[in-house]
Amino acid sequence: MNKQISNFNDYAKFYDLAYKNKNYSKEISFVKKKLKINKSSTLLDLGCGTFRHSIHIVQKVKKIIGIDQSKKMLKISRDRINKKKINKKKIVLKKASIIDFKYNEKFDSAYSLFDVISYITKDKDLKKFFFNLYKHLKPGSLLYLDYWYKPAIFHLKIKNIKSIYENNSFKIIREKKQKLNKSKKFVDVSMIFNIYNKINQKRYNFIEKHPMRFFSTIEIEKFSKKYFYLSQHLSNYSNSKPSKNKWQASTILVRK
Ligand SMILES: C[S@@+](CC[C@H](N)C(=O)[O-])C[C@H]1O[C@@H](n2cnc3c(N)ncnc32)[C@H](O)[C@@H]1O
Repeated sequence: MNKQISNFNDYAKFYDLAYKNKNYSKEISFVKKKLKINKSSTLLDLGCGTFRHSIHIVQKVKKIIGIDQSKKMLKISRDRINKKKINKKKIVLKKASIIDFKYNEKFDSAYSLFDVISYITKDKDLKKFFFNLYKHLKPGSLLYLDYWYKPAIFHLKIKNIKSIYENNSFKIIREKKQKLNKSKKFVDVSMIFNIYNKINQKRYNFIEKHPMRFFSTIEIEKFSKKYFYLSQHLSNYSNSKPSKNKWQASTILVRK
């Protein structure tokens, strides 16, 4: 095995291929309605990744700041933005941690999509995250955060998953190994990537590791309630409640 990483930098190159069928446009339309986003809104996309959510709404808002700690994910965001005919002044990409980023402005709304807050595993960092967000949001602003849902993890059981992704240049075998951490607060996730480059016919591999924290609705509220009022608990870009049959994208919607 070549390398062990946990910063999305090797993964970045294959991220959009792995999620090519994810309906980003539909997801962000739902979030846009829930956050009452309009033409004059200024937004924070926390853990923006390759900017596939925000790209769909950037024309319809005043400003979006995409924050991510992975240089390579941000590079793909930048390329995506540059390919579009949009007013680039509306977008700022910032390489920083969502736990303690600093920006000299307060925003109307924020969202963190595809379980980004589950990457924050320590209580002290979760507390910092909510406090930092509080400082960067205007009074009355809405915040949409999705995360791994604890009852689903215990009901559906932790499994290993093998997936194959392919395009004209690469064939990728991704083995996702998942194990409940001793703390019983997060799952240790290792993704072993075996890459075959069809152009130069070379093979290589790498590992992306990231523990993923899960929460019950009460646990996530415990962190948010010091700074935010609860608006709703949701599941999977719908108005239904979090379900033990859906592992990802349980959401807490809160208001400052
Ligand atoms: C599963 S991806 C989601 C990306 C994007 N939101 C999407 O829906 O495709 C997780 C992203 O969160 C970023 N990330 C994880 N922890 C972070 C942190 N503490 N600060 C900033 N970015 C973080 C990773 O670099 C990665 O781009």
